[in-house]
This record gives sequence, C-alpha cells and structure tokens, in this order.
Amino acid sequence: MYNFSLHQRINSELQNASIDFAGKDNLFYTRFMADAAAINNLYSNLYADHPQADAMFETLLQTIVTAYKKRSDGLKQKDEEKLKKGFWFLSNNIVGMSLYVDRFCGNLKNLSGKLEYLKKLGVNLLHLMPLFESPEGESDGGYAVSDFRKTDERFGTLDDLATLEENLNAEEMYLMIDIVLNHTSHQHKWAKKAKQGEAKYQDYFYMYSDRSTPDEFDSTMPEIFPESAPGNFTYIPECDKWVMTVFHNYQWDLNYTNPEVFVEMLDNIFFYANLGVDILRIDAPAFIWKQLGTTSQNLPQAHTILQLIKQCVNVATPGMALLGEAIVSPQEIMKYFGTGLAVAKECDFAYNATQMSLQWDALATADTRVMLAEQHELLQKPYGTSWITYTRCHDDIGLGYTDAMIEQSGYNAYDHRRFLKEYYSGNYYGSPARGALFGVNPKTQDARISGSLASLCGLEKAIIENNDAAVKTSIQKILLMQALSFFVGGLPMIFYGDEAGYTNDYSYLNDAGKSYDNRWMHRPLINWEKNKRIEVEGATENRIFSATQQLINLRKKITAFADYKNITWLSPHNIHVAGFVREAEDQKMFCLFNFSDREAFVTWYVFKEQGIKSYNLYNHWNKKTYTIGADHEYLIIQPYEFCLFENV
Ligand code: GLC
Ligand code: GLC
Repeated sequence: MYNFSLHQRINSELQNASIDFAGKDNLFYTRFMADAAAINNLYSNLYADHPQADAMFETLLQTIVTAYKKRSDGLKQKDEEKLKKGFWFLSNNIVGMSLYVDRFCGNLKNLSGKLEYLKKLGVNLLHLMPLFESPEGESDGGYAVSDFRKTDERFGTLDDLATLEENLNAEEMYLMIDIVLNHTSHQHKWAKKAKQGEAKYQDYFYMYSDRSTPDEFDSTMPEIFPESAPGNFTYIPECDKWVMTVFHNYQWDLNYTNPEVFVEMLDNIFFYANLGVDILRIDAPAFIWKQLGTTSQNLPQAHTILQLIKQCVNVATPGMALLGEAIVSPQEIMKYFGTGLAVAKECDFAYNATQMSLQWDALATADTRVMLAEQHELLQKPYGTSWITYTRCHDDIGLGYTDAMIEQSGYNAYDHRRFLKEYYSGNYYGSPARGALFGVNPKTQDARISGSLASLCGLEKAIIENNDAAVKTSIQKILLMQALSFFVGGLPMIFYGDEAGYTNDYSYLNDAGKSYDNRWMHRPLINWEKNKRIEVEGATENRIFSATQQLINLRKKITAFADYKNITWLSPHNIHVAGFVREAEDQKMFCLFNFSDREAFVTWYVFKEQGIKSYNLYNHWNKKTYTIGADHEYLIIQPYEFCLFENV
C-alpha cells in the first residue's frame, strides 16, 4: 500500500542528505521507496508501543541514508555487479575457510602473505573469526565484544583490515566477518555505564534489582554452557543488579525491546558493510528476543528483527549477504530463511547444521537412513537462499535433529544419541574417534561433541599407534565427509587446519581462560613448518591437502554444484550409501557416498530410475568410466569411497 507520509518523510531525509535522486543515487532511491513500507511495518511490529518509537524511526531512516552516503564508490559498484549477477552467492565458484587470524598466522598483516596458500587450495572466501576488541583472557574466542569498531590490538588495526580487504579484492576473494548481535562483553562502554548506574544504559540490557524476574526466566530458559556458566543471569555488585547473561557471565545480553539498541546495532552492521564485508555472519540470532514463559529462543520477534535488518541492508548496502548462525532444530533453522510473505527475505544463508551432524551420525553408524529421513525438511529451503555446508567449525557438534527421524529409522532416540556421544568421545569400545563431550548437562544428560575433523575420523589414534592402514582409513573418512559437504548444495566452509589434517590440540588445558572450554581442542595453532609438508609427496598433510584441493577444483568446474534447488536424493537401495543427483541444464551428476567399512553394492537400477541419457558414468573423482549394467547387477563402492559420476 502506498504510504504518502512515509514516502514524504524519507524524501525529506534524502533531501537533507543531498541525495541525488534522479542521478547517480537513483538506484538507492528506488530501493528505498520499494522497501520503505516493509521497513516501516517490521519496525512498527516490534516497537509501535515504545515511547521512543517515532524518534528512533527517524534515527533509523537517517542511519540508512548515512550508511549509503559513507559507502565507497568501489563498493557501490560491486553492489551493482552483484545485483546484476542475481544471487551471486549461489555460485559453485565460492569456497570458504573459517579461521582465527591470530592462531592461523599471528595478525592481519601476515594474513595477506598467506593468500597464496589459500589460493593454492582454492579458497576464495575468508571467514575471519571475531577481530574486534574483547577482554583479555576470557573472551569466548572474541565473541564477547568490548568495542564493535576497534579491532583488537592482537590482530592489528582497522587500517590493516582495510589493506587486507584491498588485497582480497585484488584476488577476487570475498570477506566474511561476524556481528555479535546478541550480547556485548561486560567491558563494553554500554555495560560499564550500566554498572555505574546510568538508567539509559541499564535499559540496553536486561537488568533486575532482585531475583524474581531472573528466576521466572530461568524456569523456562535452557542453559547454553551448563558446566561453565550455569543459569542465565549474573549478579553485578557495582550496581546491585542481576543482568541477563545467557552465554558466559562476561557476555551481557542486549535488550532488543529497546529500539535504540536496534538502531545502534544496525549502525554497527553498516559499519562492517562499509569495510567491504561480502557476507555478514550474524552470531546467535536465535537468542535475540527474550520473553518470560518461553525458552527465549527462535521467537517470532527474532525473525522480525532479522527481516528488518535484511530490508535495511537491501536498501543501503545490498551487496552484503546475511548469514544467520542459528544452530537449532531443522524445522526452526528453516524459518531463518523467512516465512510467509517474507520467504527468502530474511537470512540469505544459514548453516546446514542438521546435515553436518547427520553426516557424523552416518559415519559412526554406517547407516544413512536418519540423514535421508531429515532431507524432506531441508529441501524446503527457498530458492535464492543457500546453506553454509561444513563438517567442522570452531564450535561443538550438537545432535539437534529430530527424535522422530531417528525413531523412523528404527532406533531409540536416547540410546542412539548416547551411542554417538560415546563413539566420538572415544569411550565406545573399538571407536577410533578421539573427541570429548562438551556442555554436558547433568540435569538432562544432554551433551555435544568437541574434536577436530581429523581426530574424530580416527587420524589421531592411527598416528599414535603408528598404524598405516588406520591412517589410510581415517583419510578416506575425512575426504568422504568433506566431499559430501562440498557437493550437497550450499557454500562449503572449510575449518582452518582441516585441510592439513590437524588433530586435537590439548594445550588449551594449560590456559586458565580456556581450560574449562574444550572447544579449544579443535582450534589449532597453525605450525607453518608442518603445513610445508603439504608439498611432501605421501605425507599425511600432502594427501589431505591435495585431495581437498582436487575436490574444490571439481566443484568449481561443474556448474551443477551451484545451489539452484537442484538436488534430488536417490531412493535408498542400500542403507550404507547416501546419494543424490545434482542437475544443471543438460548436466547430470550422480554423487554417492559409502559410509560403511565394507564394500557396498548398489543396483544399477538406482541410476535408471532417475533417468539417464546414456549408459556411461564418468567418475570425476577417480577418473574412470563405468558402464551401467542390468538391474540385477551392481556397482561396488569401496569402504568409505565416494563417486562423483557424470552421466556422459
Ligand atoms: C556463537 C558462536 C560461539 C559462541 C556463541 C556466543 O554460537 O559460534 O562460539 O560461543 O555464539 O557468542
Ligand atoms: C550457540 C551456538 C551453538 C553452540 C553454542 C555453544 O548456542 O548456536 O552452535 O553449540 O553456542 O558453542
């Protein structure tokens, strides 16, 4: 509906800011007018009843205009190029790596010198783990931010970041960083002022004078770190108040019922956009709205906030895609792509945490049925949005898929999860995995899993036992896991170190700021002497690196691997094998993955029922051609082998 006064209001903002409506800023103007009503509606849904609603709406409009004005010409041009491509981020050409700058190479300056290494691997998107100022010692790996606009000295300066950005740009590489939206550190200036008793800033957080409201919240909110940070509130003696701290006691939850908080954080988002960020990872969005009597996760208002952010970004800095880091149940994850009228108008990306954990499920059980059962949900992802696909990241592995899917596959959900936890923590008899349980909740017996890709796949144990056959098997498992996540649809994100087979690093146990958090076991310190071994023929590092490189090359070569909602799962003729078809124009790729330690037999009928144009299958992985046989004959897939067949 055309809203005259709203458009007039925006027009006058634009005039005040000397925006060239008819000339060079015309596209911005058009986008603003097109999205104005949506912005207004979303904002009103959240804040209509707030006493400052109108004044803050004015500030919101100004924030959008200022962000656009501050955007460099180079970035504006890049925005247009991306818009012209249409969904630039769905391409099969992009492969990412997530890394801690300090643990990877010391600081931002050194990182430019490592671009050669990354290019050699084929990585062209860097996710730099939190870089902004955070408390020394305990900072949750930088996810407790004290200043959203100042890089932490450990990493270097904003100028260093800008130089890196230029270098990335010159190499046509993309940049992804985080906005930690849900909380600030207790040392952020807002938190400090709140501590000193300033009411304005106390209202930036959830602060209470006694335990009554906190107790009420606690009665329905789960605990994120039950061992190291039980409960959801922390007592602050300086102001004699309780503050909500869902994560650690040094991470204060921001109060988004206050529109001022929203606008301040939107401004920070634009600050990152104007640094040249291509994908913004919105940390922990499931938590941003709290409500008594609920779990305070995945609430509808959290989605409204994300949609509002998306619309504002669309107007001012449209080249920046949004990734919502919602690691929640599959049904809930799906909603972060937007629902109803907002389908595909919320997050552009979400992590496919479901697929990730299901791959670990299949690897331990040699049974792919639970993974397959969950796909009907995952296939609902709307066109124009995408997954970040991954096997490991800096966090733990949660087994958050649905009980019903486990039970549908004939298992008892509780026993099944207990088996997986025992298997990966190495407590199950005969398990080659070396991981650990994380976030064990003594009340519910819930737990998640820590450990590096290599250690969980058995490499650590195999090396200690000097067992070549076991080393070989573990490498096959690593590649099987990576291949599936590279080809299943979405943007693959490698976790640094995994390309060179890093096993767990136990040195965190000697650091008081880390020892209580075993996620540090899988956040390695890169040793570049070790990484040189990627060049040593036959070395473990070399075998893993060169195979990963080959997988990336294949992905970039084959357009059917772009994420255009072009996946069909094969019907399960053998429970050990997961398979799907990826199609583009006249190209048809059959990808099959054997999760068992034995040869798997797959009837050739599997291919025929999907329609084939000839009887030839070329396996891009081992470069052999296979002939499709009679229905009663079989394709034999080796233990932990995968096939990337093109029907040629
Ligand atoms: C996200 C991060 C995790 C962090 C949490 C709190 O889940 O990935 O590492 O602990 O948010 O910021
Ligand atoms: C947040 C993340 C989840 C992680 C947890 C602790 O809840 O969403 O992935 O398990 O933090 O790391």
